Amino acid sequence: MNTHTITDPSALLDERFRAAIIAAVPEFDPSRINTSITASRQPKFGDFQCNAAMGIAKRVGKQPREVAAAIVANLDVAGIASPITEADIAGPGFINITLLPEALAASLDALDSPQLGIPIPAQPKTIVVDVCGVNLAKQMHVGHLRSTVLGDAIARLNERAGHRVKRQSHVGDWGLPIAMVVEKLIELEDSGKSTDTITLDTLNTYYKSAQEKCKGEHTAHKAIIKYGSHPKALAECELRIEDADAAMKRAKSRLVALQSGDQRSVAVWQRIYDTTMTECLATCKRLNANITDEHSAGESTYRDELVGIVDDLVSRNIAEEDDGALIVRVDGIKAPCIIRKRDGGFLYATTDLAAIKRRVEKLEGDTVVYSVDSRQALHFKQVFGVARKAGYDLKSDGTQANLVHAAFGTIMGDDGKPFKSRSGGTAKLSDLLDEAVTRANASVAEKNPDMPDSERGPIAEAVAIAAIKYADLSNESIKDYVFNFDRMLAFEGDTGPYLLYALVRISSIFRKANESGIDTKGAMAAPFMLNDPAEKALALAILRYPRTLNGASEAFEPNRLCAFAYDLASSFSSFFDKCPVLHNDDAASQASRLRLCDLAGRVLRDALGTLGIPTVERM
Ligand code: ARG
Repeated sequence: MNTHTITDPSALLDERFRAAIIAAVPEFDPSRINTSITASRQPKFGDFQCNAAMGIAKRVGKQPREVAAAIVANLDVAGIASPITEADIAGPGFINITLLPEALAASLDALDSPQLGIPIPAQPKTIVVDVCGVNLAKQMHVGHLRSTVLGDAIARLNERAGHRVKRQSHVGDWGLPIAMVVEKLIELEDSGKSTDTITLDTLNTYYKSAQEKCKGEHTAHKAIIKYGSHPKALAECELRIEDADAAMKRAKSRLVALQSGDQRSVAVWQRIYDTTMTECLATCKRLNANITDEHSAGESTYRDELVGIVDDLVSRNIAEEDDGALIVRVDGIKAPCIIRKRDGGFLYATTDLAAIKRRVEKLEGDTVVYSVDSRQALHFKQVFGVARKAGYDLKSDGTQANLVHAAFGTIMGDDGKPFKSRSGGTAKLSDLLDEAVTRANASVAEKNPDMPDSERGPIAEAVAIAAIKYADLSNESIKDYVFNFDRMLAFEGDTGPYLLYALVRISSIFRKANESGIDTKGAMAAPFMLNDPAEKALALAILRYPRTLNGASEAFEPNRLCAFAYDLASSFSSFFDKCPVLHNDDAASQASRLRLCDLAGRVLRDALGTLGIPTVERM
C-alpha cells in the first residue's frame, strides 16, 4: 500500500483503478499498469482523470473507449468518488473522477497533523550534499548564489523527507592559486607592510594580480615572433615573461613549503582562510542557508590522501601514464581524467576522487549529490566514472552509492549574456543582496507608509532574500535564467513576495478574527465543509503536498516544490476572494474556512521553510 494513501486521494484512486484494470483487461501485464491519475485541468472534467485506457488499448489492440468502458464497469470507487459511468468517459478515453466531499474532508483531516502528511521513511538514507564551494581569496560571486541556495534547498528537502543529510562545502582552499596569494602576503610582510587587518576585498585584488603576474605574456610573445614587431616590443615582452616565470617559480616553491607544513606559510594561509570564510559564511547566514563552519570540507583537508589515491589507482592498473601525466580512461567519455600532472601536481579531479571516497566510506552516504554549475558536467562525468571503476563508490554493504550531479544553469543578465555587475566585472553576491534589500525597502514603505523604520528594515531584508531565492529555486535548475530585480520583487505573480503575502493575509485573518472574539481555537477542530469549488480547489492543492515534497526531494528538484507553493498560494487567493471567512453568518462554514486557512498557512509555511525561504508576519 502506498504510504500516502490516507492523505492523498490520487493514491487511493490509483489502488481502485489498478484493481479495475486487472479485472477489465486480464491479458494486460499487471506489472506494467500505470493508472496515470492526474489532477484535471478544468472543473468540467472533475477533480482527477485516469488516462490509462489509451496506452493499454494500444498494447492489447482494442479501441481506447472500449477499454475505458470496461475499466468503468469493473470500478469500485465507493467512499472516494461519485459513481463513475460511461457518461464520465471523455474524448478518446479519459475517465473523469469527482471526489466525494466527505472523502476530501477525510484526507484533509488526516493531513492536518504536525507531520502534514509527509511519511517518515522506513529506512532513512544518508544523503551527502555538496553545497556552496567558495574559493579562498575570492568573494562569493553570483554563481555561488546557485550552489548555495539550490544545494541548501536540496539538503532541506531531504531532511524534511526524513533522511539524514550531511552538507559538505568543497572550499577551493588549496593549490597553486592560493600559494600565489600566500606568497604575495609574505612578500608584503617582508617589505615591512602589515597584513594583519587585511580584508577579503584586498585579498581578491591580490588574487587577480598574482594570476596576471604569473601568466606573463607568452601569447603576446608568440604573436611577436610569428608576425614580427619592433625589437623594443620584443625585448619588453621578454622581460615581462622573465618576471612572470620568476613569480611562478616563487609561487611553486611556496606551494611546496605550504604542503610540507612550513609554519609561516601555513599561518598566512590560515589568515586567508579565516578572512574568506568569515565573510562567506556571513553571506550564507544572510541567505538563510544552513551552511556553517562545520560543513566546510575544503580541498586542503584531502591533501594527505591524494598520494594514496594515485598510488592505489596505479597499482591496480586503473591509471596509466600518458606523456608524463597520469590519466584514467573512462568508458564512453572521450577525454581521459587526468589525476596527476606531468610536474607531479594533483588536480581538481584528484581531490574530488578523495572526496567521493570520504563521503561514501566515512560519511556513509547512500547518495552523494553535487549542487554545482552545469559547466562542470564533464568533470563530474569523469570523476564519477573513475570512482566507479575504482570502486570508491562502494558502500560497506558492497552496493554502489548513487552519485548525482544536480547541475544548474547560468544566471543571465537582461542582455542575454552571463550576469555581470554594472561595471562589467563579476557581480559580487553581497552587492546584489544589498540592492535587492534597498528595492524591497522602497516597496514595503510604499505599501505601509506608517511602518517605523525599525520594523521595516528586517521585513525588507526577508522580502529581498525570499525574492532572490525563489527566483533562483523556481526555475528548472538546469536552465539558465535572467536575473531581473523588478520581476523577482513584484508582489504579484510567481514570485517570493507573492508567497509571503499569502501568509501575511492568513495571519491577518486570524488577528482580526481574534479581535472580534471569534473562537479560532475551537475552529481548529471543526469538520471540514468543502462545498464551494474554490474550497475544494484549495483542499486539493493542500493534499498535493506530501507527494510533491517526496517527488522534489527524490529528484533533487526544488522547483517542483516552488510550483506547488505558488499553486497553493494562488488557490488560497481565489478561495479568499470567493468564500467569505469573517463575514460569514454560517458558524459551521466559518469554522471550517478558518481551519482551512490555518492548514493552508501551515503547509505553505512548511514548504517555504523546506526551501529555505524566510517568511514575515507583516509586509
Ligand atoms: N570551488 C569550486 C568552484 O568554485 C566548486 C566546488 C564544487 N564541488 C566539488 N566537489 N567539486 O568552481
